This record gives sequence, C-alpha cells and structure tokens, in this order.
Amino acid sequence: MLLELRDLVTRYGAVEALHGIALDVGAAEIVALLGANGAGKSTTLKTISRVIAPASGTVTFDGRSLDGLTPEDVVALGIAHVPEGRRIFPGLTVLDNLRLGATPRRATRAEIDRDLDAVIELFPKLRTLATKLGWTLSGGEQQMLAIARGLMAKPRLLLLDEPSLGLAPLIVTGVMETIARIAREGTTVLLVEQNAHLALQIANRAYVLETGRVALSGPASDLLTSDEMRRAYLGSAVRTRHAEPTSP
Ligand SMILES: Nc1ncnc2c1ncn2[C@@H]1O[C@H](COP(=O)(O)OP(=O)(O)OP(=O)(O)O)[C@@H](O)[C@H]1O
Ligand SMILES: [Mg+2]
Repeated sequence: MLLELRDLVTRYGAVEALHGIALDVGAAEIVALLGANGAGKSTTLKTISRVIAPASGTVTFDGRSLDGLTPEDVVALGIAHVPEGRRIFPGLTVLDNLRLGATPRRATRAEIDRDLDAVIELFPKLRTLATKLGWTLSGGEQQMLAIARGLMAKPRLLLLDEPSLGLAPLIVTGVMETIARIAREGTTVLLVEQNAHLALQIANRAYVLETGRVALSGPASDLLTSDEMRRAYLGSAVRTRHAEPTSP
C-alpha cells in the first residue's frame, strides 16, 4: 500500500476527534473518505499531511513512517493536501498561485514552466484566467486553481478535502471527471466528500467515518448498492427511489 494508517488517534486539546483509524490507499487508486459533518474526515487528512500531529498510531507512506515530520517534509515526500475551502491567495494572479505550489520542490524555472503547461492542459480554463487575481475567480474556478496548485507540487498522493463544496452541479461533474483523470494519469487520490453518491461514482474503494471511527468500508461499487450504506448515507438517492411507484 502507498499509504497506511494504523490505530490513528488525534486530539484537539481534550477532545479526541479520531479514535483509532485504520485505512489503506493503494498506488493509483481513488479512495473516498465519507461521513457526516464532524465525523473526522478533515482531521484525518490534516493528520496525514502533518498539519496536526497524532496523539498515537502511525501513518506510513511508501513504507516510511511520517512520525516527527513537518508539513513541509511531507510535501517534499510527495503528499499534497488541498484543504477545505480552497485557500488560494486572493491578491496573487492565477499563475503566481500555481508557481507557489511548486515551491517545496526546489525545481528550476524551466521545469516549473513545463509543469505549468501540464496542469493548464488539465484545467484549460486556467489559461484564459492566467493573469487574473485570485479573488476575481468564481467558486468553481477557485476550486480548479486549488487542485491545480496542489498538482504543481508533483505529488504521488493528492489529498482533496470536499472539492465539490458550494459548487453548482454542472461544475461539480467537471471537477469529478478531472479528479478521475488525475488518477488515471498516475496520481493516487484520497478524496473527502460529504456527497457520497458523487464520490462513489469515481472511487475504487471507500471508507465511511462515524464520529472518529471507520463504520463501513469496501469497494465503491459494493457500497453504492449496500443496504446499510443507502439507509444511512445515500439518503436523498434512496428517497428518490422510494418516491417512484412500486409494483404490488
Ligand atoms: N480546531 C479544532 N478544535 C477543536 N475541535 C475540533 C477542531 N477541528 C475539528 N474539531 C472537532 O473534531 C471533530 C472532527 O472534525 P472534522 O473537521 O475532522 O470533521 P469533518 O468530517 O471534516 O466535518 P465536515 O464535514 O463538517 O467538514 C468534530 O467533532 C469537530 O468539532
Ligand atoms: Mg471537513
């Protein structure tokens, strides 16, 4: 496995948010991390990227323990974290936002320019926005920029925290298709989503968190059709189905 979490416990002061998580992500997989508000999804990503240090347990990336590393060390090892709420720099242009994503790599100007071309090919809209300031972008454009900036670190593992949040349905479909393409091109993805239905369409496997514990896990196709999953987490889809006329 590329990423392995074992017995991971994370606290905010006296509050224990993760009570012993075990989770695996294999190379080139998309793994979805699902669950309701406050379940611990963002905390899991923050613990992997070392924004928070765990109280106990281990995170292993490509066979190496991340114990004692700083967030900068973790980026340098090949893990990029795109946090909740698209934290782009509003006063910088799109191009400068993207260039900043490459800072941890100590790459040459020529290498960075080549990688800029590659991410702009993935998000063609960014070409026309290149000289615009971050704050002038729409929500969907900011989300694309945040993901593209994460890719500028040339990660082997991309941690995405709710990339669909607050976006119009049509834009969300585009973002999900791009995430699927990123994985096809070889970058492993751990995708946090509240919209389980959406994430399960593109994920290979998924874990469902419930108040800091893994409540369910398995292949995405199994979870999409599992009764337990539908009752608890695919609520709206189930209601739609029940509203349809049924034969006696
Ligand atoms: N900075 C913090 N200080 C104290 N408690 C926190 C902090 N951040 C999160 N928590 C608590 O930790 C738990 C897990 O929060 P987390 O943000 O990981 O959930 P989440 O699954 O990402 O939720 P959401 O879907 O709302 O983003 C919650 O009970 C939350 O209140
Ligand atoms: Mg969150």
